[in-house]
Amino acid sequence: MMQRYIVTGTDTDVGKTVFAAGLAGHFGARYWKPVQAGTEGGTDSERVQLLSGRRAAVLPEAYTLQTPCSPHEAARIDGVAIDPEQLKLPTGDGPLVIEGAGGVLVPFAKDLLAADLFATWGLPIILVCRTSLGTINHSLLSIEALRTRSIVLHGIVFMGEENHASETAIIRLGDTRHLGRLPHLDPLTATTLAEAFVTCIRTDLL
Ligand SMILES: Nc1ncnc2c1ncn2[C@@H]1O[C@H](COP(=O)(O)OP(=O)(O)O)[C@@H](O)[C@H]1O
Ligand SMILES: [Mg+2]
Repeated sequence: MMQRYIVTGTDTDVGKTVFAAGLAGHFGARYWKPVQAGTEGGTDSERVQLLSGRRAAVLPEAYTLQTPCSPHEAARIDGVAIDPEQLKLPTGDGPLVIEGAGGVLVPFAKDLLAADLFATWGLPIILVCRTSLGTINHSLLSIEALRTRSIVLHGIVFMGEENHASETAIIRLGDTRHLGRLPHLDPLTATTLAEAFVTCIRTDLL
């Protein structure tokens, strides 16, 4: 049975929500997006509900902000002050998947970076990384930022077409684990995602 994880990534749009939906759906876990910045075209919570085939138990966001940008700026635009007290871990037992916003050093509030928040939660991280060009630098920078704060990195999930050289370099230089790779799914549905998840992801390591 999986435990509680923070899913973050090297960037926005790397596939955190897709992976989180697969993970929460597979284990029937709770899913929490603490701060949703940008609501046009739907929220990550809504996508997780659909892509998990409604097997994830989606918790309400602490903050839902209109503008698709860094949470601290989205909050400023909406005239909302993000209170770290509202970003405490949900109580209750059982598997939990928390999805960050953007990457590891995204500001949630003026003086509060995502990684600082992760450190206070004390949960292991799953880092979602692209396989395309540029990923080694982004992945190793993210790993370094986590390690600097003594945050436990559980492993890496890759997104995209296989890139053996890059994946191997990141795992070796980052001294971490390969938790699998999800290929580009077309169509992307709850069914294709659930199938790809069991074939491509090391569920035995989760
Ligand atoms: N494995 C995949 N197959 C097909 N589409 C994907 C896959 N991973 C991500 N996408 C698409 O890429 C976009 C960004 O993914 P998303 O999970 O929302 O990224 P993030 O949460 O990191 O911002 C979305 O439109 C999503 O549907
Ligand atoms: Mg997302």
